Amino acid sequence: MNDIVEVRDLSKVYTQGHEQVLVLENVNFEIRAGEFTAMLGPSGSGKSTFLNLIGLLDDCYSGSITLFGSKLESMGEAEKAELRRRRIGFVFQFDSLLPEFTVLENVDMPARIAGRGDPAAALALLKRFGLEAIARKFPMDISGGEKQRAAILRALRNRPALVIADEPTGNLDRHNAVTVLEDLKKVNAAGAAVLMVTHNEEAAAYADRVFHLSGGRLVETRGRR
Ligand SMILES: Nc1ncnc2c1ncn2[C@@H]1O[C@H](COP(=O)(O)OP(=O)(O)OP(=O)(O)O)[C@@H](O)[C@H]1O
Ligand SMILES: [Mg+2]
Repeated sequence: MNDIVEVRDLSKVYTQGHEQVLVLENVNFEIRAGEFTAMLGPSGSGKSTFLNLIGLLDDCYSGSITLFGSKLESMGEAEKAELRRRRIGFVFQFDSLLPEFTVLENVDMPARIAGRGDPAAALALLKRFGLEAIARKFPMDISGGEKQRAAILRALRNRPALVIADEPTGNLDRHNAVTVLEDLKKVNAAGAAVLMVTHNEEAAAYADRVFHLSGGRLVETRGRR
């Protein structure tokens, strides 16, 4: 078995005022090493909620989540933080670059946080994706597409085995969206599994498998080829 993500009977309830809202209901899901998975679903269906649980950004749920063979429910906070830092790269739904740092510094940030900052390695990553021209610029001086591509490279900085991307093409025109998708394809070809949320069927075509989330239920609509 080489599943790197295994989700069993995952349910998630939010409390909104006096109401309990069931956002995920008994979701079952797994990802194998190196697989590119896309998830579609209407706005508010719980896609970000699901990614946040798998990406260790939220630990309030019922059911079980196993990452890289370890059950999250039996892991301590320090162990989870370490797992998140070393093995998972997260690309957020909304612009998340730190405005007071250059693109190069932003891309190097995950390594800096781990005490292994290395601007030369971050620059090499930018070069590999043809983005060296923006390395010294600040986020406010680059385009939305460039920001999203820089955010992807930041997610790659610690060579994660799993890259989670929440609507990475959501705010981009078609040309920039294709560039971002090609970047993710490259990431995937280099060996990382990718879990991408999107609103867009065309974007989902880049994936090996496609899932739909709706009404709290997750359904696989295109299986492994
Ligand atoms: N922190 C929270 N507290 C209460 N309710 C929340 C919270 N976060 C999200 N929700 C609710 O949970 C549901 C799912 O939200 P989520 O952000 O996961 O949707 P989504 O599928 O990512 O939507 P979008 O496509 O618009 O990004 C929504 O109804 C939302 O209002
Ligand atoms: Mg969302």
